[in-house]
Amino acid sequence: MKTRGRIFLLDDDDLIVSMVARALKGEGYEVQAETDPDGAIDKIRLFAPDVALLDIKLPGKSGLDLLKEMTDRGIEVQVVMLTSDDSAESAVKAMKMGAVDYLTKPFDMEEVKIVIASIVEKGNLKHEVEYLRKVSSDLTYREIIGNSAVIAGIKEKAGKLAQAGVPTVLITGENGTGKELFARYIHQLMHNGNTGEYAPFIGINCCALPEPLIESELFGHDKGSFTDAKSEKKGVFELASGGGILLDEIGEMKWDLQAKLLRVLEERKIRRVGGRHDLPIDATVFATTNRNLEEAVKNGAFRIDLYYRLNAFSLHIPPLRERREDLLLLAQHFLTLFSAKYCGTCMGRFSPEAQNLILSYHWPGNVRELRNVIERIVVLESGNTILPEHLPKEILFQDRAGESLSSGSGFTLPEEGLSLDEVEKTLILQALAKSGGNKTQAAKLLGITYDSLRYQIKKFELEEVR
Ligand SMILES: Nc1ncnc2c1ncn2[C@@H]1O[C@H](COP(=O)(O)OP(=O)(O)OP(=O)(O)O)[C@@H](O)[C@H]1O
Ligand SMILES: [Mg+2]
Repeated sequence: MKTRGRIFLLDDDDLIVSMVARALKGEGYEVQAETDPDGAIDKIRLFAPDVALLDIKLPGKSGLDLLKEMTDRGIEVQVVMLTSDDSAESAVKAMKMGAVDYLTKPFDMEEVKIVIASIVEKGNLKHEVEYLRKVSSDLTYREIIGNSAVIAGIKEKAGKLAQAGVPTVLITGENGTGKELFARYIHQLMHNGNTGEYAPFIGINCCALPEPLIESELFGHDKGSFTDAKSEKKGVFELASGGGILLDEIGEMKWDLQAKLLRVLEERKIRRVGGRHDLPIDATVFATTNRNLEEAVKNGAFRIDLYYRLNAFSLHIPPLRERREDLLLLAQHFLTLFSAKYCGTCMGRFSPEAQNLILSYHWPGNVRELRNVIERIVVLESGNTILPEHLPKEILFQDRAGESLSSGSGFTLPEEGLSLDEVEKTLILQALAKSGGNKTQAAKLLGITYDSLRYQIKKFELEEVR
């Protein structure tokens, strides 16, 4: 059972210790109670409590000495001083030295409980914030949608990798193909949910931070390892112990750090920055990239030894345009999802024309692009069916754009660029002029539907112009 928190209790009075310990255990806390100040700091370090209750008057030592020693050694624990009526001055001193609170003997047990609960809750919130900062976007594993042979093949391979418990998996694929989703899928299979045990999954982007910071994010640091390291800190490898780490955009990792990562992967050990001891690691490392790592190796941007190490177990997620049979399934999935989220199933289906456009578009941003397009439509458009004119113009005008770029039909992008809106507007005006204002004919000339022309006319406010 998960405890409410861990409390360390040090007081030389047996009676007080047993009374407070019993009350706190009754509240659901895990309690370690001690009466001897000798070796107390190491015990605290090992037990890693949320709160340490320290008596201020201890045989041979004062609680203040312990507090100071803990601060000096960079042990971050919330300390509450236990004082007697006659030591109010020391209590103030303790607060100045960093204690979060003090309790005066004889104790009011209700007060003890309230003080501790509030400290533990604040601490939990802080940890949660720190933790959430590290985990990438979505916390929970999401369903993988797709009936294509491609997806079935990837799922099968993912299953084998999970079953074998491989230490690393390299996941490659264009932006938005689902690399992270598959990393989470394997993670989920490895820790197959029904044991009920929580296995952490922590993501870190390899190029989001400057190199020294990335290194300490990954491997942690010991106190004083660099000027502003006032305390020790666990890195992602330690935090994800027993779980998984997602190294996002591994292809962007700096050369020197690549060497350090390789050492970690080969020896399954890390050393904190400024640390003196190696710590064993057991987390599965998922490395993702949208770069062609083989190319990067050829260009001297990626170490060949790390590439071989990572490539031992790899998973490639092909772009969406190579598994078109999943397109409508995914589109419908996102429509149902966002419709339920934003408007209680207001939009339920796609018109056949909209489906055709979705099927023929090349989706350079892959599943993420599809997801975003549909989310935008559900939020911004009304009606219960998605029509072509609801689709963004790169999808609505895809053929024309494709032609103009590929078949050299007279359109060339000028060096200085252009305003696509202006071009569209001009072409629509020309088509309307040519057809003598007949919208059906103008739409034909433009290769779009009547409805979508009407939408464009409204959008560019061309009605009045003509
Ligand atoms: N097969 C799928 N079924 C359902 N949702 C999917 C599928 N593939 C991707 N998605 C969704 O698409 C979005 C993008 O996926 P993900 O973040 O895993 O892509 P990625 O390859 O890691 O992208 P990037 O290269 O930009 O980091 C997510 O919201 C994810 O849940
Ligand atoms: Mg990703």
